[in-house]
Amino acid sequence: MEVVILNGSKQIARLAADAVEDLLRSKPDAVLGLATGSSPLPVYDELAARHERDGLDFSRASGFALDEYVGLPPGHPESYREVVRREFTNRVNIRPENVHGPDGAAADIPAACSAYEEAIAAAGGVDLQILGVGTDGHIAFNEPGSSFASRTRIKSLIEQTRRDNARFFSSLADVPHHVLTQGLGTIMEARHVILLATGAQKAQAVREFVEGPVAAICPASILQFHPHATVLLDEAAASAL
Ligand code: GLP
Repeated sequence: MEVVILNGSKQIARLAADAVEDLLRSKPDAVLGLATGSSPLPVYDELAARHERDGLDFSRASGFALDEYVGLPPGHPESYREVVRREFTNRVNIRPENVHGPDGAAADIPAACSAYEEAIAAAGGVDLQILGVGTDGHIAFNEPGSSFASRTRIKSLIEQTRRDNARFFSSLADVPHHVLTQGLGTIMEARHVILLATGAQKAQAVREFVEGPVAAICPASILQFHPHATVLLDEAAASAL
């Protein structure tokens, strides 16, 4: 695991965008793994700027979201499908039909989860996965205790994650209890993983997954076993290392 401590989220965004740009230049039909949450937003801004300014081309690329809430009505502004569209894919020239996410409204959830795994495999797997980390060390929505072998499936959110994400909803009561998420086994198959973390509220989780034991209680710690994982931190997020 390569840990890079940088001077703020602009620098982090530039470095992550450089990796996406290098990938797209060598492999125009690259498969991007897209995270939600606030951590990747500066990266999406930087990529949208490079598309606008330098013509960075996403026309042959595809994208797979990490996770989705269960039970939000279609088109809900906080469904991750909408967030990914609004914050990133609508701002570049990726084809809408090439942007995928787990179907949190499916009648048959296990079938939807298997179909999502199959779609990722059919696309050739994820080349570059952007990741954030939760304050409890979760990645995507793999909460503490998730199996390292897990695949896309339904999960319950713990209260801390619901509280952390309540800022995106009108009240805590509106935050769904259930989600679909790529598993840790799914995420580990991405060829390159870039995890971004900023701010002192992430310092403890960062210390645990970078320096602590690899343990299911800290899902992000599995990245210690990833052959190509890059962790981009600002000084506050790195302050407990
Ligand atoms: C949510 C998402 C994760 C994200 C995490 C941290 O739980 N499912 O993918 O990493 O939030 O979000 P933020 O970057 O806003 O701190």
